[in-house]
Amino acid sequence: MIKKLCVIGAGTMGAGIAQVAAENGIEVVLRDTEDAFVQRGVGIIRNFIGKKLEKGKISQDAHDQIIGRVRGTTNPEEGFSGVDMVIEAVFESLPLKQKIFAEADRLCNPGVILASNTSTLSIAKIASETAKPERVIGTHFFSPVPVMRLVEVIRGDKTADRVVTATLDFCKAIGKTPILAKDIPGFIVNRFLCLLYNEAANQIHQGLATAEDIDLGLKLGSNHPMGPVEIMDLAGVDVVNNALKAMYEMTGEERYKPSPIFEEMIRANRLGRKTGRGFYEYAK
Ligand SMILES: NC(=O)c1ccc[n+]([C@@H]2O[C@H](COP(=O)([O-])OP(=O)(O)OC[C@H]3O[C@@H](n4cnc5c(N)ncnc54)[C@H](O)[C@@H]3O)[C@@H](O)[C@H]2O)c1
Repeated sequence: MIKKLCVIGAGTMGAGIAQVAAENGIEVVLRDTEDAFVQRGVGIIRNFIGKKLEKGKISQDAHDQIIGRVRGTTNPEEGFSGVDMVIEAVFESLPLKQKIFAEADRLCNPGVILASNTSTLSIAKIASETAKPERVIGTHFFSPVPVMRLVEVIRGDKTADRVVTATLDFCKAIGKTPILAKDIPGFIVNRFLCLLYNEAANQIHQGLATAEDIDLGLKLGSNHPMGPVEIMDLAGVDVVNNALKAMYEMTGEERYKPSPIFEEMIRANRLGRKTGRGFYEYAK
């Protein structure tokens, strides 16, 4: 059972993971490279939990206990001291993640689970710089972590069965629903999402359908809560293009080749909501 967790990287995902763990009774050490980054992550959690208190969803006592379970640090040794599990949520860079895993492998207890929240990188490659790759696994949370219920659990080529079982149990203990995914580009969910976004973009580019009709079609005909075109504008056209490019490079499959409309839109600064114009126009 996981009682103490170290989350490395206090950004969007790291803060979210730390929060749900703390809400479910786990002691959390949130680590980043600078105190300002740690405090920003802790601030995200305080804000979220504070809103729950304001809305009467939790008591003052529960609020104080959750906040009291989260500690921040910039010191690796302090961050790893006595933890049962480490979840890494730093930038999406293989050398950076390998360096962090090698360090965690050296400094943590023998029984520790070392998990990465990578969305694209191979768990086997991340584990390859450790002396005990059997302790390494992927836990792919979805954003925003406190809201999205899924975690893809990815076993590397050497991950031990006990690590898989304990990780699935951990996900359930923090209120998430885990699914087991292979260590392949895009795991399960992003392989589908990339295809959906690319198909929508290609249909618009080829004049086969409008953005409005694609979104209505999938919302009313397939019960999607949001249309794929709306989501691309929300996530950022450049972000979707990068995800597709990465999938295309990793798989070599034509179906992931980014639609030409993405480059045209990026050149015209039509990046979505953040620039006021993407597939749709947004009032300033
Ligand atoms: N944002 C998403 O929607 C999403 C969804 C699923 C998975 N992911 C994955 O989660 C990971 C984190 O993404 P994010 O969006 O939270 O990134 P982010 O940029 O918001 O946060 C990354 C944090 O890592 C910190 N960091 C960098 N190097 C570090 C180091 N050596 N030690 C400690 N901290 C360090 C940074 O200072 C930053 O605070 C990435 O691998 C990403 O691919 C992101």
